[in-house]
Amino acid sequence: MKKLLIALLSVCAAAAGIAHAELDNPGGIGGLESLRGAAELEDTRPSDSFKDYPKEHAVASDYVFQPPLVPHSIRSYEVSLNANKCLACHSWKNAPDMGATKISVTHYVNRQDAVLSDVSPRRYFCLQCHVPQVEAKPLVENNFERVESLR
Ligand code: HEC
Ligand code: HEC
Repeated sequence: MKKLLIALLSVCAAAAGIAHAELDNPGGIGGLESLRGAAELEDTRPSDSFKDYPKEHAVASDYVFQPPLVPHSIRSYEVSLNANKCLACHSWKNAPDMGATKISVTHYVNRQDAVLSDVSPRRYFCLQCHVPQVEAKPLVENNFERVESLR
């Protein structure tokens, strides 16, 4: 008898909980809060404004063999089967005229360790490794420190 009573009471409590949640959130969906702020799922949130790229310098590396961060905007730079905009400035042929850093020799080495005469297929999709960095506030606290040898 006692067990039955407890079971009955807990069913009532659960039902009351559901009713309460519905009252708080009439649409029934959303009410999420994330790093992007609070939003209802049905609403399209206005996008953030574009961030500035540090123009005057390349962002320094934090560890040895880090693919350097891209210090400029890459908006509308195509990298596809037909074109590689990055190489228009960074290939060994074009870099001196464009005033850009040459891709390093490692970018000409294939998986079999052979040095090719043109950029290696495994280095073709630049953004697989190189990401642009902007002056943005970190979303979460971070105490990462640069490796000793680069400090
Ligand atoms: C219009 C020419 C141009 C294009 C196109 C271009 N870059 Fe650059 N890039 C530069 C120049 C010039 C620099 C030297 C730093 C500076 O002044 O911004 C540079 C710097 C860099 C660096 C830093 C190099 C270092 O030693 O720290 C990386 C990485 C890079 N670019 C990657 C890319 C990638 C990836 C793309 C394609 C999505 C690309 N770039 C397209 C001109 C270009
Ligand atoms: C698989 C990862 C990977 C890909 C893909 C890749 N890179 Fe790199 N890149 C690196 C690493 C790691 C370094 C630093 C070590 C080195 O020089 O190899 C580097 C270095 C560079 C540098 C600096 C060279 C120097 O002498 O300081 C430039 C510029 C660059 N990459 C441009 C590019 C461009 C343009 C592409 C596309 C055509 C590309 N990278 C594709 C990993 C990559």
